[in-house]
Amino acid sequence: MLSSTTINLLLPLLLASSSLAGVVTIPIWKEPASAGDHTRRDIHSRATVLQQLDNSRQRGSYYANITVGTPPQPISVIIDTGSSDLWILAKTADVCLNPSLIKQLPGDVGCIGGTYDQLKSSTYDKLISGGFQIQYVDQTESSGDYISETVSFNGQNKSNNAIKELQIGLASTSTLPVGVMGIGYNSSVAAATVYPNIIDQMVYQGLINTRAYSLWLDDLSAATGQILFGGIDTAKYDGSLSILPVLGDDKGGRPTSFAVGLYGMSVGHKGSMSSITTSTFAIPVILDSGTTHTLLPAAVVNPIIRGLGAYDFTSQIGAILVDCGLRTANPDFIFGYKFGNSTTAPTIYVNLSELILDFPGLDQAQIKDSFKEWDSVCYLAIADSSTVTDHPIYLLGDTFLRSAYVVYDIDNDEIGIAQSNFNSATNKIVEILAGEKITSIKGQPDNLAKEVATGTREAGFNGLIKSKDADTSAAVSGKLPGGGGATLVVMAVSVCFAGLGGLLVGV
Ligand SMILES: *[C@@H]1O[C@H](CO)[C@@H](O)[C@H](O)[C@H]1NC(C)=O
Ligand SMILES: *[C@@H]1O[C@H](CO)[C@@H](O)[C@H](O)[C@H]1NC(C)=O
Ligand SMILES: *[C@@H]1O[C@H](CO)[C@@H](O)[C@H](O)[C@H]1NC(C)=O
Ligand SMILES: *[C@@H]1O[C@H](CO)[C@@H](O)[C@H](O)[C@H]1NC(C)=O
Ligand SMILES: *[C@@H]1O[C@H](CO)[C@@H](O)[C@H](O)[C@H]1NC(C)=O
Repeated sequence: MLSSTTINLLLPLLLASSSLAGVVTIPIWKEPASAGDHTRRDIHSRATVLQQLDNSRQRGSYYANITVGTPPQPISVIIDTGSSDLWILAKTADVCLNPSLIKQLPGDVGCIGGTYDQLKSSTYDKLISGGFQIQYVDQTESSGDYISETVSFNGQNKSNNAIKELQIGLASTSTLPVGVMGIGYNSSVAAATVYPNIIDQMVYQGLINTRAYSLWLDDLSAATGQILFGGIDTAKYDGSLSILPVLGDDKGGRPTSFAVGLYGMSVGHKGSMSSITTSTFAIPVILDSGTTHTLLPAAVVNPIIRGLGAYDFTSQIGAILVDCGLRTANPDFIFGYKFGNSTTAPTIYVNLSELILDFPGLDQAQIKDSFKEWDSVCYLAIADSSTVTDHPIYLLGDTFLRSAYVVYDIDNDEIGIAQSNFNSATNKIVEILAGEKITSIKGQPDNLAKEVATGTREAGFNGLIKSKDADTSAAVSGKLPGGGGATLVVMAVSVCFAGLGGLLVGV
């Protein structure tokens, strides 16, 4: 989730994106049943902290369980590389006392991640009364006090895993029913003055050696992922890590968010990929785990909509509708994201099935007549950025990040990236030492690279969709074949989509 502070800091970079070409050459484990937890938790080496993340399919975010206070109060927070403040909800926060203040998603029960009661903690200290105020790009916001507290990672009940006197936000007013752990650059904190955030304090208090961590979200069907502070888990990716510079502003200033250069996108099958971008394409994209979807320029999104035979109902309901059947019919169809402009630049591949999401609760029968050729109606997890924000902001959220293993190195302004090794159940942790940069360390054998192209495959989107209304401009503008059904579709889907919180939950 990008906060407004981050956006202001980012604008010089984003607005300068056309000149980018010259500037840039650019734990969570799978959830074992409770008993298994302990053996695995002990694997973390001295100066790394391993934390299991929960994948909430409903809200589409990744949660970490932490404790706050003394004695510890358990709280779940969204893990967010796109912002920099850790904040939690007060027991008396408006949204927790009166859940009807915000739209409840199915499964939500008031403040789903738990709340914090300062009256029950001996380590609570108020730092800045009324000083905490954060607003994210999707207009959700929270405000209250900045406080000082002891924070630790759940399940690691060792005194040396507690972070003491950490400055965090305590929200009394919020339009989000769950707190957030922002783990970005401290220059993007929401406070008037930069303070040491959780990553800084983990270094200052000796939990980790360097401001770096690795995030592995695992695939869409996995319930959990992993964040590893201070280390790299080589069991969690294929091939070697590629190192990308994090982009600073055009005046040579330090980065304020995890923006890297995206130099091209391709589609098709391994071995027969076709580019859908021009040779001069280059945009900054922010790696943002707090965002569920992916925001890209129209020049990329429109060819995808046409290629998938999808219908763009963004202006009506904020969603692009797509045939759910595509993902089972084309299990090996992939999207390639190229990071860099050299021949050795890494490409991360994302399966089509990771980008086509179900509408839980949608009454498919109601709209079946409008989509006779489709199995059922799903939505696409990619959106045109300009439909969401006036700024040229491009985000690679969870629908991209699940396919990648990403090491975020704040101290050296670098990102290490590799193809994720889905469903890995082992850990091979390498600690990052003080003063060390991330290297192209080898992960698991690259199975994907070994796959041979199936000769019969057509290039690009060709052969993907069977028969369909030939008028591709209708697909882009959201007009259905036969016309009349559109209103019904919009009504049926928007009710259900509103229930989901919309496409942009968590941007
Ligand atoms: C986190 O806490 C929630 C609520 O107590 C629990 O349901 C979930 O299993 C926990 N997840 C992990 C990874 O410990
Ligand atoms: C942590 O360990 C101490 C001592 O073993 C115990 O009293 C306490 O309840 C534990 N706390 C949690 C959150 O498990
Ligand atoms: C913020 O982070 C930078 C490294 O990115 C570090 O040099 C600086 O000391 C940190 N600021 C505080 C207040 O801890
Ligand atoms: C990438 O390299 C190609 C070939 O050298 C060049 O034509 C193109 O302009 C480059 N693109 C960018 C964005 O620098
Ligand atoms: C795509 O899905 C297939 C089958 O589920 C899997 O074997 C493959 O690793 C996935 N590829 C990518 C790039 O995610």
